[in-house]
Amino acid sequence: MKIDIKRDEQTVSYELACEDLTLLELLTHIKTEIDSSLAFSSGCRSGVCGSCAMRVNGKEVLACTYKPQDGDLIEPLRYAPLLRDLVVDMDKALGFNKIAKAWGLPTSKILNISPKDAEINELQSDCILCGACYSACPVYAVNPGFIGPFALTRAWRYVSDVRETDVTQTIAAVQTKGIYDCTLCNECVPVCPQGIAPKQDIVMLRNKSGVMGYMDPNFASSFGGFDSGFTF
Ligand code: FES
Repeated sequence: MKIDIKRDEQTVSYELACEDLTLLELLTHIKTEIDSSLAFSSGCRSGVCGSCAMRVNGKEVLACTYKPQDGDLIEPLRYAPLLRDLVVDMDKALGFNKIAKAWGLPTSKILNISPKDAEINELQSDCILCGACYSACPVYAVNPGFIGPFALTRAWRYVSDVRETDVTQTIAAVQTKGIYDCTLCNECVPVCPQGIAPKQDIVMLRNKSGVMGYMDPNFASSFGGFDSGFTF
C-alpha cells in the first residue's frame, strides 16, 4: 500500500506492507519503524478524545477509526495554525466556546430531569472537540472570527437544557459573528464523527433568538431595518 502524507510544504510517499490497520496504527508504524520525525496527535485510540482528527483525500476523519486505502493523501486539518506535519494548534477554535459563553450557570435549581428531557441535548453533549467541523467550514475559512460549528453546537446544548433557567447571556453572545454568519451549507454535518449536526443546532439557536426578540441582521438590513418605518 502507498500513502502520501503532506508534511509542511512537501508531500512524502510511503510504501507499506501493512494491511487491515487503522490510519493511526499506520502512522505509528511509520514513526516507529521508518521515520521517527513524523508528527501527529493521538490520545485514546478509540474515537473518544478527538485529538487525531486529520484529512484524508480532502475529507476530515479520525485517524484512529479510519481504515486507509491505497493511494490515500493524508493532510492536517485546515484553518488552524500548522505546528508540524499533521499537528495543528486548536487553541483558537477551542476559545470560541468561551466567546459563545457555552456553559451552564449555577443559578439553576433544577437538579433532576426526566429521561425525555435528557434526550434533548444528549447528542450535542457527545461533541469531542476534534475540530473536523471547523476544518470543513467554508465560512470559517474566510471569516476567522466566526464562532463556528462546535462552539455553536455547545451553545445550543446549554440553551436547550431544561435545567438552564437563564440563557440570555449565551443567546446574546452568539448574535455577533455567530448564528447569522453561518450559510447553512451543511459541510460541517457529514464530517462529524459523533453524528452531530451543527447546522441544525444553529437553526435552533436562530429560532430561540427570534423568540427572545433578536432578528437576523441581514434580513433587517434588507428592509432598511425596523427603524425605517417599514411595517409587516
Ligand atoms: Fe482519540 Fe482518535 S486518538 S479520537
